[in-house]
Amino acid sequence: MNYEFKKTLTDTPKEKPDPKSLGFGKIFTDHMFLMDYDTEKGWHDGRIVPYGPLQMDPAAVVFHYGQEMFEGLKAYKTAEGKVLLFRPDMNAKRTNATNDRMCMPQMDEDLYVACIKALVDVERDWIPDQPGTALYIRPFIIGDEAFLGVRPSNHYLFVIILSPVGSYYESSNGGLVANSIFVEDEYVRSVPGGTGYAKVGGNYAGALKAQEKAHANGCEQVLWLDAIEKKYVEEIGTSNAFFMIDNEIITAPLTGTILPGITRNSVLQLLRNWGYTVKEERLSMEDLFTAAKEGRLQEVFATGTAAVISPIGRLVYKGQSLEIGEGEVGPVSQKLYDTLYGIQTGAVKDEMGWTVTV
Ligand code: COI
Repeated sequence: MNYEFKKTLTDTPKEKPDPKSLGFGKIFTDHMFLMDYDTEKGWHDGRIVPYGPLQMDPAAVVFHYGQEMFEGLKAYKTAEGKVLLFRPDMNAKRTNATNDRMCMPQMDEDLYVACIKALVDVERDWIPDQPGTALYIRPFIIGDEAFLGVRPSNHYLFVIILSPVGSYYESSNGGLVANSIFVEDEYVRSVPGGTGYAKVGGNYAGALKAQEKAHANGCEQVLWLDAIEKKYVEEIGTSNAFFMIDNEIITAPLTGTILPGITRNSVLQLLRNWGYTVKEERLSMEDLFTAAKEGRLQEVFATGTAAVISPIGRLVYKGQSLEIGEGEVGPVSQKLYDTLYGIQTGAVKDEMGWTVTV
């Protein structure tokens, strides 16, 4: 289907940033996408407007009860100047899964992807092409009806903003760096029956306390344990977690407390294609710690859209600090990063049909 969106372009475009000092999520492009929902018209009035503050009633549901969701994906520029998105249909599906959990309206998947493509098309000059960079795409939906009773909003706003980004974690050369993880055994991220599998801001706000604790303990990220027994490893920070022990690679199964990461899904497919033994099953902290102490924990890495692959070189648990592998970026992490980022930027052949041209 062909979707038409109204475009109002800015008269005052901003200067493009230095691609070497982008960082993550600090700079925003000239335009944003807006679309309204109400119960009579459904999703309507999709439009591209100059980037700027949103005006909203202070009684809007989102400010009080947090009825909202967000997504993350990236656009890349190939060496030939083509613009590629990576598996945007998966973000559309996950948006609808989140919306279902949050009593928010479904959105047609083709419409969702068309909105993203339309905005990226207008902002194609903002896509950086230095190694390690991309244009981060942040779609989000907020309940914006002015109403203080606790029930689902009758009005929603869909917004997409864009941010040219470099590495999520500081790196002097745009390459990978090995981070450290603090095993969190007090606070939890997600409970069975909760919102752990959904992409909602509350999951992230509730995680800040543990992130502060990890930082205070000299680690960049949190390793989350399951909420019931505090026994099994679940996620790392805002990403899915993979562990390589005795040449087998293990990640937590999607049982409702884990975010169904698009990078997680892609990594599983690549590893299986390459012939690795990959298991989606529970791994206890005790088994992980024993493997680390015995030198059998070869690699740990986190996967996510923002960081792509984030290798872990050190683990802190109950006051003990253990090195993982050589404490450096492991070969599987590096190969996954090179392959995924290569496919995303058109440098490696996309045999899986994952990229979509804008
Ligand atoms: C992503 O990887 O896109 C995320 O959602 C992480 C984000 C919270 C920075």
